[in-house]
Amino acid sequence: MLNITALQQFYGASHTLWDLDLQVKQGSCVCLMGRNGVGKTTLLKSIMGLIPVADGSIQFDGIDLSRAKAETRAELGIGYVPQGREIFPLLTVEENLKTGLRAANKQGIKKVPDSIYEIFPVLKQMLKRRGGDLSGGQQQQLAIGRALVLNPRLLILDEPTEGIQPNIVSEIGDVIIRLNKELGVTVLLVEQKLPFARKVADSFCIMDRGRHVAVGAIDELNETMVKRYLTV
Ligand SMILES: Nc1ncnc2c1ncn2[C@@H]1O[C@H](COP(=O)(O)OP(=O)(O)O)[C@@H](O)[C@H]1O
Ligand SMILES: [Mg+2]
Repeated sequence: MLNITALQQFYGASHTLWDLDLQVKQGSCVCLMGRNGVGKTTLLKSIMGLIPVADGSIQFDGIDLSRAKAETRAELGIGYVPQGREIFPLLTVEENLKTGLRAANKQGIKKVPDSIYEIFPVLKQMLKRRGGDLSGGQQQQLAIGRALVLNPRLLILDEPTEGIQPNIVSEIGDVIIRLNKELGVTVLLVEQKLPFARKVADSFCIMDRGRHVAVGAIDELNETMVKRYLTV
């Protein structure tokens, strides 16, 4: 579904992604791992078109996205939950969700689908509250809800459990599993918490200093790799 080959990315003179490859198969849940600063967020932003890439290709269902606008990528069916959530604190929950619809989406979806409130009942109860008044866990649910309003086929999440209370972490895990296994949404997520990654993902991809270093089924993620690439 998503096929990235030989991707190169620079921030000014600083070479951040080196010849990076990544494959995400339809229906899978892939966990992108690696220590802080190795380039995970940079890779996700490159996929979303939020930062330019220097070279390489990003193919989504056979369409080359490398030069496509960010809006186009969203409309083609990629949903994105950024690191730190980035919800609008002064807008209400409902207004935040509507920002995910974008001005004129090709799907012609005009209202937030009821399925979002079925997945996150708390958002329905809080529709008129300001985003900034929600707890961290509720804001994360809002950020995921906003990414789902256009019914993406691929959902990308950047550290969805960062700074969130344990009980909500497990709820978010259940939602990701449900989206992936029941609703057929392909998932690419960045996650540092190993138990969480093992629970939700079926495969892993490890990055180190801007390069791709290991890939495999999640049960193949062994202690040697964890020590070498993941623990500080
Ligand atoms: N906007 C930016 N401008 C310059 N350098 C950046 C920018 N964003 C991130 N970097 C640098 O790029 C590297 C990768 O960062 P990032 O992709 O955020 O890593 P990760 O998500 O794996 O923690 C880091 O060295 C970081 O300091
Ligand atoms: Mg990051």
